Amino acid sequence: MALLELKSVSKSYGEGVNRTDVLEDINLEIEEGEFVAIVGFSGSGKTTLVSLMAGLVEASNGSLTFDGKAIKGAGPDRGVIFQNYSLLPWLTVLENVMLAVDTVYPDWGKAKRRAHALKYVEMVNLTPAIGKKPHELSGGMRQRVSVARALAMEPRMLLLDEPLGALDALTRGTLQKEIGKIITQGERTALLITNDVDEAILLADRIIPLRPGPNATLGPCFDVHLAKPRDPTELNSDPDFKRIRNELTEYLIECRRRNREYEAKDPSGVIRIKPPSAQPIDLTAA
Ligand SMILES: Nc1ncnc2c1ncn2[C@@H]1O[C@H](COP(=O)(O)OP(=O)(O)OP(=O)(O)O)[C@@H](O)[C@H]1O
Ligand SMILES: [Mg+2]
Repeated sequence: MALLELKSVSKSYGEGVNRTDVLEDINLEIEEGEFVAIVGFSGSGKTTLVSLMAGLVEASNGSLTFDGKAIKGAGPDRGVIFQNYSLLPWLTVLENVMLAVDTVYPDWGKAKRRAHALKYVEMVNLTPAIGKKPHELSGGMRQRVSVARALAMEPRMLLLDEPLGALDALTRGTLQKEIGKIITQGERTALLITNDVDEAILLADRIIPLRPGPNATLGPCFDVHLAKPRDPTELNSDPDFKRIRNELTEYLIECRRRNREYEAKDPSGVIRIKPPSAQPIDLTAA
């Protein structure tokens, strides 16, 4: 049995003329210990998909299960790192992380909880800033606090919604390595949302494109069999890395081209014909 399972899931926001059909017919199974990446365009519904898995929004149709049970709300078994790093503004860096640790390990003594939180603060290189409040931090630092907070909860599954998007290349590289290490060593399950194809190949066991919406749906799965841990500098010259990168990029470009064609035919967006995401794309026929 898969740890996370989505069957024929669709999600629309609003009613009547204000209705936006975001996701359609999403089918996905993630096994325990797997690291899956979803790559997609801006506005296609990636955060919506993560929010469904986290139990923060309800599906319009279909079923979502975690460990065989229907997802009914948020839970400590699924830790989320959102792209907008929602921290509590009146708490310091350490207190923000401690708060998460307190909810998951209420039986631990204060010293043990503090040491645990400090370990993860150190991991994201924020020890010198433990006493600072979010408004005193840069965007990248805030993002690192939210990474530390989710990791410190040691959830069974990590849901990462573009967690490194706001970071400079250097910090991004360091955190990519840390996240990869923590997930592999801790034998955790993870779903990473990203718009960075290289990041997806660096970290994931398989990559699934989310085709542009409306009615966005998942495309075919691209398996990554490269040995882990993966080194970004070595990857650059690896023929398998280059092949996956090319195939995936071509696929995404083709998705975008078809979507533009569709938009050009229906600029008003009023006529709801079958969206391009429903048509299969054959990469070999190109
Ligand atoms: N609460 C909401 N109410 C109404 N519409 C929403 C809501 N949340 C998202 N949407 C719409 O759903 C679509 C997908 O949004 P979502 O945030 O899931 O996309 P995304 O792929 O995460 O985008 P980005 O790459 O910019 O983060 C957008 O058209 C957005 O306007
Ligand atoms: Mg998003």
